[in-house]
Amino acid sequence: MAETISVLIPEDKVEARVRELGEQISRDYAGREIRLVGILKGASFFMCELAKRITVPVSIDFMQTSSYEGKTESTGTVRIKKDLDESIEDKDVIIVEDIVDSGRTLAFLGKFLESKGARSIRYCTLLDKPERRVVDLKADYSGFEIPDQFVVGYGMDYDQKYRNLPYIGVVHLDGEN
Ligand code: IMP
Ligand code: MG
Repeated sequence: MAETISVLIPEDKVEARVRELGEQISRDYAGREIRLVGILKGASFFMCELAKRITVPVSIDFMQTSSYEGKTESTGTVRIKKDLDESIEDKDVIIVEDIVDSGRTLAFLGKFLESKGARSIRYCTLLDKPERRVVDLKADYSGFEIPDQFVVGYGMDYDQKYRNLPYIGVVHLDGEN
């Protein structure tokens, strides 16, 4: 099925907000070091831009999970496809996500990283769809709250497409209004 994309959050607004989040994190972690753990593939674009705006020492790692399997609805179970490369023992970790939907992915990863001995864990997400939450999870840092619409761009995909859009767009399937 073909689809069209409309702009939800333009590029300049996304960039300004990412800069603010970086400044806020830099203030909160003054005098400490941060381990950013990005969730592939969606959060990779956001994490690179965010890391460039953080002024305290940063190291990075990535994990990959799956729950969507090519659909626009979560299947409910989170599976680890790629584990951490580096130990997070005694590290101050910020898990970086593109978007929090049901909250299952971050809730699962928070517990997982806690079991690996992180000193502290916080959640940073570019987008949040609070209406969709099924588990109790609140991000410590959140770029934008958005309505329940399927979005793409800035790392996020629809069937692996549109990750490279520099703005956040909404997907409209053909036949929809
Ligand atoms: P959760 O576990 O239900 O919170 O799902 C979070 C994951 O679902 C995110 O990391 C995204 O990869 C994916 N996701 C949720 N909503 C969207 C969307 O609107 N566009 C693209 N990916 C999404
Ligand atoms: Mg994701």
